[in-house]
Amino acid sequence: MKEYLATSLRSRVTGALSDDNVGESVALCGWIHRRRDHGGLVFFDLRDRYGLLQCVASPERLPADVFAVVEKLRAEDVVAVEGKVLARPQESVNPEMATGTIEIDVVACRLLNESATPPFPVDVEKEGRGEVAEEVRLRHRYVELRRLIPTRALGLRHKITIETRRYLDGLDFWEIETPILTRRTPEGARDFLVPSRVQPGKFYALPQSPQLYKQLLMVAGYDRYYQLARCFRDEDLRADRQPEFSQIDLEMSFVGAEDVIAVVSGLFHHLFESCLDYQLGEIPTLTYDEAMSRFGTDKPDLRINQELTDVTGAFRDTGFRVFDDVVGAGGRLVALRVPAAGEESRGTIDRWTEVAGAAGAKGVVWARRQTDGWRTAVDKFVDSAYWDRAGELANAEPGDLLLVVADQQRVAQQALGELRLHIAIERDWLDDRSPWRLLWVVDFPLFEPGADGGLEPSHHPFTAPRGGLEALDASDPLTIESEAYDLVLNGYELGSGSIRIHQRPVQERAFAMLGIDRTEAEEKFGFLLEALEHGAPPHGGIALGLDRIAMLFAGATSLREVIAFPKTTSASALLEGAPSTPDEGDLADLHIRLDQADPPA
Ligand code: AMO
Repeated sequence: MKEYLATSLRSRVTGALSDDNVGESVALCGWIHRRRDHGGLVFFDLRDRYGLLQCVASPERLPADVFAVVEKLRAEDVVAVEGKVLARPQESVNPEMATGTIEIDVVACRLLNESATPPFPVDVEKEGRGEVAEEVRLRHRYVELRRLIPTRALGLRHKITIETRRYLDGLDFWEIETPILTRRTPEGARDFLVPSRVQPGKFYALPQSPQLYKQLLMVAGYDRYYQLARCFRDEDLRADRQPEFSQIDLEMSFVGAEDVIAVVSGLFHHLFESCLDYQLGEIPTLTYDEAMSRFGTDKPDLRINQELTDVTGAFRDTGFRVFDDVVGAGGRLVALRVPAAGEESRGTIDRWTEVAGAAGAKGVVWARRQTDGWRTAVDKFVDSAYWDRAGELANAEPGDLLLVVADQQRVAQQALGELRLHIAIERDWLDDRSPWRLLWVVDFPLFEPGADGGLEPSHHPFTAPRGGLEALDASDPLTIESEAYDLVLNGYELGSGSIRIHQRPVQERAFAMLGIDRTEAEEKFGFLLEALEHGAPPHGGIALGLDRIAMLFAGATSLREVIAFPKTTSASALLEGAPSTPDEGDLADLHIRLDQADPPA
């Protein structure tokens, strides 16, 4: 046991005791996990953060008033116990319990606080999920957190943060805090706003990320910054998104992309080794184009072996309008091979078509490779010689199914990318020989087509174009590459970063291309533009999703499992009841009147 765990109330903690302590007198504190009476003796398991330990109270060895306390103990009561560590008789050793070879012979027991009946049992041994509604568990999160799985997850999260700090400190990064009451940082989500009392009608925004502050710190000369930063985004929530979350945010000066990638790769080697005792090999790099063409996504799960194949070359001039028109318009034909699915029913293929449809495909053409040729959805229109060529490109064997989408390249790739993920789960395509498949994705485009026909940043508007100002003159802005990079683990985007624009004219030009005119740029980002004129060094960085790292390391499937007090999908905090309706007085102080058409609930 770490000596400092001893306090005036306890000398030891449960999980630290073992056979080595037999014969010692100890004072322990904790919660009553389970109590049972057996042959006049009272047995109870005492639980603390460190584990469980069996205690035995005998009416013969205890004063009557103390035994009376023990007899009345109920689940989750808080007690202080004194006693002697004994080796359990052979027949009562519990191999399931870490402390199953010992027990405490109780000599004193004090009830420190009585507990109401818990809303659900603190079943530490089993997963204990499912049977208790999530709403109940979140409302009584302090009880849920007593369970073994969340305790382990939060312990692991703590370890990740400590090891991150240790690693970055070793490289001379400084941890610097940046404001929470701030103004808009565009990271693609809505802002949470906080009204100002002293400046009527004005609002702070909570930061979506510390992006602009870290760039200002580079201008200030703090050439290696990091922060475990809390970020706030008002966006639709999913299992891997929370409205407030934490980033391992870092920034460096006088670097190229390869320098940031080297530091973060080193950090991950360190985290895998220190937190999971796992030796990570070299982290591969894919270009964005390669990731899209092989996997149909910029965050590929490399544990899934099946890849997409561009089969456009196999279908030149088929005479089949759907194919020829797409190719004529510069589109592509992309195929997903589904091994040994040649006999799948039409029902299954229709279901898969719907998945691809929801991801943007206008249709899916199926082709069954048989020993004696092909049976396809377009037998009447496309000769089997074309399919032979396509089959060769996609390595289709007899018994396989090919699914082909014809569309603009990215649309076809993304639709089949989604379908690939879907079928991978259905058909168990995960190759678990290597449980951790980390990779870098680089060479992202600078812009994406925007909803209104304009341009949107692929990452954020501060990302440097590869080739500087001149590159921004390209005739097709969608072909401009950026100095951005993403870190991906098992199909999740763990982090995203870039080399930044550090010269005012380049930043102004990028804003203009994004449809942000001079006045708007000045109004929203004037402080940044001005800073770029005052000796901004070349700089770049990245932000890694701490919650996502903890989720994947803990083997969890939702961020909620690694956040002590998470929000629900409707962004509610069930325990304390947030958001809540403010008092009339508070609203008046803030110069806010609620719309009467939408009265507070
Ligand atoms: P980005 O917006 O890609 O980049 O965020 C970086 C990483 O933060 C995590 N993340 C989230 N985690 C949980 N819930 C959310 N709602 C959520 N949103 C994002 C992801 C993501 O990869 N300023 C840039 C970084 C930079 O350029 O340095 C930024 O914030 O793991």
